[in-house]
Amino acid sequence: MCGIIGVVGSSDTLGTLLEGLQRLEYRGYDSAGIALVRQGQTWRARTAAGTESVAALREECLSAPSGFSSGIGHTRWATHGAPEAINAHPHLDCSGNIAIIHNGIIENHTELQEQLEARGHHFTSVTDSEVLAHLIEDQRQLGLELSEAVRQSLLLVRGAFALAAMDANEPDVIVAARRISPLVVGTAPGVTYLASDVPAILDRATAFYAVNDDEVVRLGPEGFRATDLEGAPVRLRQLQIDWDLETAEKGGNDDFMSKEINEQPDAIRATLLDRRRRNGAICFDELRISDEELRDVKRVVLVAAGTSHHAALVAKYAIERWARISVEVDISSEYRYRDPIVEIGTLVIGVSQSGETIDTIQATREAQRRGARVVAISNIVDSSLAREADAVIYTRAGLEVSVASTKAFVAQVAALELLALRLAQLRSTLEPKDIDALFLGLNAVSAQVATTLDRRSHVELVAKELLHAHDFFFLGRHVGFPTALEGALKLKELTYLHAEGYPAGGLKHGPLALIEPGVVVVAVATDPSMHEKILSNLAEVKARGASVVAVATDDDEHIDSVADYVLRVPASEPMFTPMIDIVPLQLFAYSMARGLGRNVDRPRNLAKTVTVE
Ligand code: F6R
Repeated sequence: MCGIIGVVGSSDTLGTLLEGLQRLEYRGYDSAGIALVRQGQTWRARTAAGTESVAALREECLSAPSGFSSGIGHTRWATHGAPEAINAHPHLDCSGNIAIIHNGIIENHTELQEQLEARGHHFTSVTDSEVLAHLIEDQRQLGLELSEAVRQSLLLVRGAFALAAMDANEPDVIVAARRISPLVVGTAPGVTYLASDVPAILDRATAFYAVNDDEVVRLGPEGFRATDLEGAPVRLRQLQIDWDLETAEKGGNDDFMSKEINEQPDAIRATLLDRRRRNGAICFDELRISDEELRDVKRVVLVAAGTSHHAALVAKYAIERWARISVEVDISSEYRYRDPIVEIGTLVIGVSQSGETIDTIQATREAQRRGARVVAISNIVDSSLAREADAVIYTRAGLEVSVASTKAFVAQVAALELLALRLAQLRSTLEPKDIDALFLGLNAVSAQVATTLDRRSHVELVAKELLHAHDFFFLGRHVGFPTALEGALKLKELTYLHAEGYPAGGLKHGPLALIEPGVVVVAVATDPSMHEKILSNLAEVKARGASVVAVATDDDEHIDSVADYVLRVPASEPMFTPMIDIVPLQLFAYSMARGLGRNVDRPRNLAKTVTVE
């Protein structure tokens, strides 16, 4: 989740850029940079000092020449290439005149870079973004104006971008464009701005406009002109912004948790971007482990805590089903102390949003000490877990601020299921056509999550009706079981009410004794192959007086006979349902917590990252 900002026509260019970058801090970053552009001259500064990067940039900029009325700035959250100054944005073309900043992922950057290098372009970073500077340079050499050069370049690009480009030979123009990654334009008399998010320019611009996917905007001091990718003029929608800075940082939401719940379609989409080569091979650029070694894995052990443990449980089903490798899942705090057996061919996967959870780090260290190869699934680039592991796959959920994890969970499931597909591909345990279908299905999940989010108001009504309840059982079968565990965890940590996740089939072995009027049973009932069994489990609890809430698919005609409240979701391949079915459960926990007056972003007694045992 990089942050971008740009300004043309300003008498305080440097101040605008540095202040804007500071205000994008809540998006998270590991490096930062700016470029100032005027006729025939580009001045650039870049720093990589983690969360101190903008402060370090401010220092560097003390030596910036004055008199620039235009510039662009960027905070980077590394995806391709380590968080180092050479990979920080802005990137320049070979001439040094064109500067670009980019948020997103250019999926076909490898092939584009090969073509550009064959034409004599020289690359100086290890990023996917730098190809944009060189593509635009090529188009400029054909004599095109900057806006046209950007538009033509984008026709060659696959992936996601919020992009801004400047050229010292056409100063006082910024060309910006968007696909998937967010971008807004702001205006004030004689000055025009662009930014990833409104907070960066909140008190500078007086009017704000949303840029849509596949639109290109030419900004000058006098305002802006927008076209689609074919060059046809388009009008940008004006945004009604009456936010203060705090609300703006939450994207207009009341709190970070609802912002992060709403960001889940993007978290999944970003995590899946650029993961398939032209020959069909599923790939992880950052995974430093050979195909041969992955193919020969004999056993997988996943270690994780809390929500990440629930994502790991989902992965067990996927890896066993698709890659036919036996999988164990351990709560990381238990793994280290139980004298684990690590045989040759054991792959240990440490799953952690922060990559700093002490239990998970200690578990992977123990596994490495006993000879296992370790893969980290981390949301934070260069986290301790990622650095110490033999290999890493980054989820690209963006910074998660709210203590209760939401978007990290869906991104972890997406990354782990992709890894399961890669293992299946290497071991030929699935037909190529099945892998194609599953890959397509995985890519459709983001839209299904968006559809589910649109049904928020119904979940709010159900939560309102159950606000008086104190005891909740969350039930599921197959991958619905880890989903139930995660739903229960969300409810207990946000509301402080008793909530227990249980395999629906285990109910009769004890917990059924606790079911009585007043107890709420929440069931994940979306898997058709488990449906009859779940219905009969629900009939049992209903007969004992429980209120039943069911997460069920749109086409489920039978669920109403056993459920008092139904939370509908779109149907999907069962293995993908945890990413969809968790959404109403997150919204339910959130609405209950709000109804009870809890602080949803900071539940009592909890820390975002647990760094003590
Ligand atoms: C629950 C939650 C925690 C974390 C757990 C692991 O909402 O956020 O249970 O999932 O502390 O944290 P990471 O994933 O950073 O290792």
